[in-house]
Amino acid sequence: MNQPLDGNSLFVLENVSYQFSDGIKIIITNAEIKKGDHFLISGPSGCGKSTILGLLSLALKPRLGKNFYFQQNDILKLWNTKKRNQLSFLRAQFFGFVPQTASLIPFLTIEENIKLPQYIIKKYDQNWFDQLVNFLEIRSVLFKKPHQVSVGQRQRIAVARALINKPLIVMADEPTASVHPTLADEILYLLIETVTSSKSALIITSHDVERVLRYGLKEMVCDIDNMQNITRLQIYA
Ligand SMILES: Nc1ncnc2c1ncn2[C@@H]1O[C@H](COP(=O)(O)OP(=O)(O)OP(=O)(O)O)[C@@H](O)[C@H]1O
Ligand SMILES: [Mg+2]
Repeated sequence: MNQPLDGNSLFVLENVSYQFSDGIKIIITNAEIKKGDHFLISGPSGCGKSTILGLLSLALKPRLGKNFYFQQNDILKLWNTKKRNQLSFLRAQFFGFVPQTASLIPFLTIEENIKLPQYIIKKYDQNWFDQLVNFLEIRSVLFKKPHQVSVGQRQRIAVARALINKPLIVMADEPTASVHPTLADEILYLLIETVTSSKSALIITSHDVERVLRYGLKEMVCDIDNMQNITRLQIYA
């Protein structure tokens, strides 16, 4: 396979692996992710969910791989030829990321934090910014600094920042792990609504499987081989 299959494909992966120095190995055996797909990656703590998101978000260099395409881009080739700028550009332009704790930049205002990804790719859409801010109900805190807002507001700000460039794909690593269950539902609801309205694909990791599945995501469970310290995962619709 030299090219992704069709115009709807975002990712096509085959046997892409990551290995830690202590021998733990994580393999995405097969993945095909299309525009608008919504997936939950589940599995016990330590099985490799965050590592898998690291690979998919072009942040971790795969150890080995047979195929790894993001749209028309041969990601293995970009890593192997050290085209880090191109990888960063793809990330900034097409990816949105919601971390477990919002990870906002402390010395920027909330508005500057949300708009930062726009500055990186130099595309500004004030109308979409306004829509996000209104929908996520964070207009009143735009002038504040991250330490001056609540935990729930911070997560909503992180959702706005992840969506500001209308990414093709949003990845969220345990986006509700540090909040109260009621707030977890609110964040998930807002995340799914905004992702749907920007027609982005979504991949979430979470321990809170039951709650996340209520939002219609398809669950992909990590297959763990404890004897060999290997986790395998397939992602398909
Ligand atoms: N820098 C590292 N060096 C060695 N092993 C590591 C390193 N980082 C993570 N690991 C191991 O790799 C495995 C996968 O870690 P990862 O963080 O991807 O798991 P996870 O499924 O996201 O866990 P959690 O549900 O607790 O967030 C774990 O067993 C972890 O101990
Ligand atoms: Mg994790």
